Amino acid sequence: MRKRTIRDVDTTGRRVFVRADFNVPLEQGRITDDHRIVASLPTITYLLDHQAAVILASHLDRPKGPDPALRMDPIASRLSELLKRPVRKLDDCVGPAVADAVAALRPGQVVLLENLRFHKEEEANDPAFAKQLASLADLYVNDAFGTAHRAHASTAGIAAYLPAVAGLLMERELQFLGKVLERPQRPLVVILGGAKVGDKIGVIRNLLRLAQTMLLGGGMCYTFLRAGGAEIGASLLELDRVDLARELTREAEQRGVRLLLPVDVVAAERIEAGAPARVVDARAIPAGWAGVDVGPRTVAAFSAPIASAGTVLWNGPMGVFEIPAFAEGTRAIARAVAESCAESVVGGGDTAAAIEEFGYADKVTHVSTGGGASLEFMEGRTLPGVAALEDA
Ligand code: 3PG
Repeated sequence: MRKRTIRDVDTTGRRVFVRADFNVPLEQGRITDDHRIVASLPTITYLLDHQAAVILASHLDRPKGPDPALRMDPIASRLSELLKRPVRKLDDCVGPAVADAVAALRPGQVVLLENLRFHKEEEANDPAFAKQLASLADLYVNDAFGTAHRAHASTAGIAAYLPAVAGLLMERELQFLGKVLERPQRPLVVILGGAKVGDKIGVIRNLLRLAQTMLLGGGMCYTFLRAGGAEIGASLLELDRVDLARELTREAEQRGVRLLLPVDVVAAERIEAGAPARVVDARAIPAGWAGVDVGPRTVAAFSAPIASAGTVLWNGPMGVFEIPAFAEGTRAIARAVAESCAESVVGGGDTAAAIEEFGYADKVTHVSTGGGASLEFMEGRTLPGVAALEDA
């Protein structure tokens, strides 16, 4: 699992291609959450301090071709502010003009290439495109943990043409997430939420092998409650997963994993702000009402194992936390994780956003920048962007 990093190579005077994950949310061209950009700064600063010329590259969203609304300019501006030095944005990521601009780059200078996904060859992992990207540099650094589950030209293919090492964010992600899977301080308490059972099957299966306690909340818990015979009203139900939920519950029993489901929930007449809502027994949700958050007895029941955990791994909110009236359960679990002495790792875009919003991000050991990537990692899968890097 240990990969060579930028600390293991001499970067002085070299042109370094850094694949970052600057896929940040934008609203009318403005960045609404810059955490991924901030998380990439240690690598960029390290390289600039070590006399490298830095060529930054990332995708932004999922364009089907060149799209003026998804140019990298806002990212370059934000990087410039954060690095307190000019970050020139180039108009493409390959081609003669890019090659010339990069050739003129001096140690300590930095440019940002245009959105890699403006070329369909990026996602196709086209070898000729990967080679063109590689021709810009002497060294490849992958710091894009959030995109490491994609086998694209800039995350995997390029490593065939250049020495390939991890950036400091990639190193940190692999270290903390890897430790949970390989040698967690026990007891390991896993908290899973989010909307769908379907998205979490692989994670549940893999973590049932490792965890001592698993706490289930969020939209996905209602399929488990139903599998146990509960009345769940109009709560989110994946009818085709009820048998699977039953099977996973049995597997937890056989493995001696304590699987806890909510005992009470906040049920609402409609899933919208201002709708009538009340705390009800999780096994008797009124007809037509939907569970939208875990209730206070559940928070207490979940908080006890979190407090005495050696390691806590959390992925997926406990309810519809985007609506303030239904956010209390997620907030209380975030507080419990923050207050626990356990090593705590939080993964997944929504969960990371929740813990930031509630102001507990600096009280947990590690907040992953990966959404899909952290899920696939927790499923125990090999990520192509990691596999492509040189072993230490
Ligand atoms: C993410 O936001 O999860 C990564 O940047 C990957 O983006 P993608 O799902 O569009 O490949």
